[in-house]
Amino acid sequence: MKFTLGSVTVIADGPGVMVHTPPLLLQLQQAGYDVDVAATPSAALFTTPYAPALLTGHPAARWPLPDTALTPNRAILLAPSSLNAFKALPANERQRLENSPAGLIVAPALLPDDTPSDALDEWRHLASPRWLIAPPTAHTPLGALGDILVASPETCVEWVRRWQTPQDLAGRRILITAGPTAEDIDPVRYLTNRSTGRMGGSLARIAARRGAAVTVVHGPLSCPLPDLPGITPVPVRSAQQMFDAVDAHLNHCDVAILCAAVADYAPATYSELKLKKSDRGDRPHTLWDMPDALPLRRTPDILAHLGSLSPRPFLVGFAAESDHIEENARLKLMRKGCDLLCANDITEPGSGFAVHTNRVTVFTRSGDIHRLPQLDKDDVARKILDLVVQALG
Ligand code: C5P
Repeated sequence: MKFTLGSVTVIADGPGVMVHTPPLLLQLQQAGYDVDVAATPSAALFTTPYAPALLTGHPAARWPLPDTALTPNRAILLAPSSLNAFKALPANERQRLENSPAGLIVAPALLPDDTPSDALDEWRHLASPRWLIAPPTAHTPLGALGDILVASPETCVEWVRRWQTPQDLAGRRILITAGPTAEDIDPVRYLTNRSTGRMGGSLARIAARRGAAVTVVHGPLSCPLPDLPGITPVPVRSAQQMFDAVDAHLNHCDVAILCAAVADYAPATYSELKLKKSDRGDRPHTLWDMPDALPLRRTPDILAHLGSLSPRPFLVGFAAESDHIEENARLKLMRKGCDLLCANDITEPGSGFAVHTNRVTVFTRSGDIHRLPQLDKDDVARKILDLVVQALG
């Protein structure tokens, strides 16, 4: 038997079945779910029973769903659904779904001239709290019929994952720093490092999935942040800008996870004009010539600054080390005043920058050491957040 994370029945409504449903079915299966589809009568006008069967490997489900389909390990995902279609569900049919143990998720389809906040209020008013409402994120073109605004297939998959995830960070506000910083020399050149922002993105994704409101202050990323509900990106460029943005967003945060690879040094001065590299010969050195050695200054240490505040959020630092990991990590934990320090050996293959995996050892203030095996970065994030939840009590 094939191992799956659970079952999802997609209820496709209207012409969205032509455009939104196929990528949704494929992405749900790629994420590990066993998927089938039921088409409402208005979707059946735009498809045949064979099309979804071809994409899922299962015959089309009956609509309304039989009681045998309403089991605890199955999510019923209405995507996309217009308010009228939802209203048109016979009251006893909606009640039958709501009284069942199945997970219920709806992705409202809004029209271009709907005001999203008003439309969502109406949805919240109409749907019982049993329904997880996946707010719209993307314009989906339906050809001559115009656009609808609906949760993208990727976001719908995320809501299915959320339905299965204990909300042990609900009500928590988490600030994360991610990626490298860029320290400008002139309008063209800058100093930076090899961080992609992937570890910070994983922490944001998993924390938001567990119910936290996440703010991510990030430098220029080569691995884009997940575009998911519950994650607010705050883009910056330099270490100083990251310092200022963290300061501005720290209020009311319960947890700060400083995962960014902040440049330790920045050019001492910034040149408004591009510095010249031409040989000077006998010509005297001017302000606009690239110097032979670039004078540098230290950047502010954001983690150490947060560690010195009182009160301060629960503080998690990172340390990318290439030698004496344990010794350096313990020193850093105490010197920077954090509660947890996640150290990784950047010389080990499959750990650190620009890879999907990481091997992290977490040091706690009370002297505990948690040696995690090499894991996918989402799983590393999960383990770190488990320790945070445990510490917050
Ligand atoms: O001292 P080191 O750079 O190894 O410390 C790494 C930790 O400190 C990371 O959590 C990093 O985000 C944070 N840091 C910072 N500001 C700096 C330098 C590092 O917040 N200027």
